[in-house]
Amino acid sequence: MKNIIVAANWKLNKSPTETRQFFQTFIEKFKKKSSYAQLGEQFQVVFFPQTISLEATSQSLKDSAIKFGAQNIYFQSQGAFTGENSAKVTKELNADFALIGHSERRQYFYETNAFLNKKILHAIKSELAPMYCIGETLEERESGKTQDILLAQIMEGLKDVPAANSKTLVVAYEPVWAIGTGKIATAEQVKETHAFIHKALTHLGLGTTPILYGGSVKAANAQELIQIPHVSGFLVGGASLEVPTFLDLIQNSFSGA
Ligand code: PGA
Repeated sequence: MKNIIVAANWKLNKSPTETRQFFQTFIEKFKKKSSYAQLGEQFQVVFFPQTISLEATSQSLKDSAIKFGAQNIYFQSQGAFTGENSAKVTKELNADFALIGHSERRQYFYETNAFLNKKILHAIKSELAPMYCIGETLEERESGKTQDILLAQIMEGLKDVPAANSKTLVVAYEPVWAIGTGKIATAEQVKETHAFIHKALTHLGLGTTPILYGGSVKAANAQELIQIPHVSGFLVGGASLEVPTFLDLIQNSFSGA
């Protein structure tokens, strides 16, 4: 049996009120599932709400083993950085994770590997586990550049990350063309790419890092995907927004492991 992380990326959705309502129902229903009893080191569920809903998340989850984190942090914890998010304050709310380098951050906010590397190092220093997202675009895949792109994202983004941190670092592989499109990478593509990422991480002394898959993951495909070697769970967007769909996805991921 492998260790599994199922993470919800809520993006720019759910106000603090909607967040509280979600967790009220979610926790009540989750407690009735066998997967709830399995929560711990081996099976983790993590939520990434928008920044303004972090406090509501923290309060809603305080008596549970469910974890959460910020969707983005800056590489300085305080000062004259208008509009940014502080890792220190995120940690103060009892968060455990920081999502870093999601393809939407790379695409719409022009975040580069070198810039993301600063955030990763700062997250580790602030005792937040970085969940570092990597992935190629359709154009890059079709022109045979997938491995070069992933390697650059790994080598530049994880530069100077100490090997000792491999247990508190998570990598999420999300092919950009599969995010929110309903298109899912084939089992063969996931297998080949996760093996490649694992090899690159091993080369950096980070071979124990869990590698999640993301991009149109649903309850229906979770069971098959979780059985692929070096797939340690999922980063889920759309299917994490409604309680029943996300609970089914969690249940299928845990039972398929
Ligand atoms: P999706 O999003 O599950 O809606 O494809 C995944 C993500 O962006 O992390």
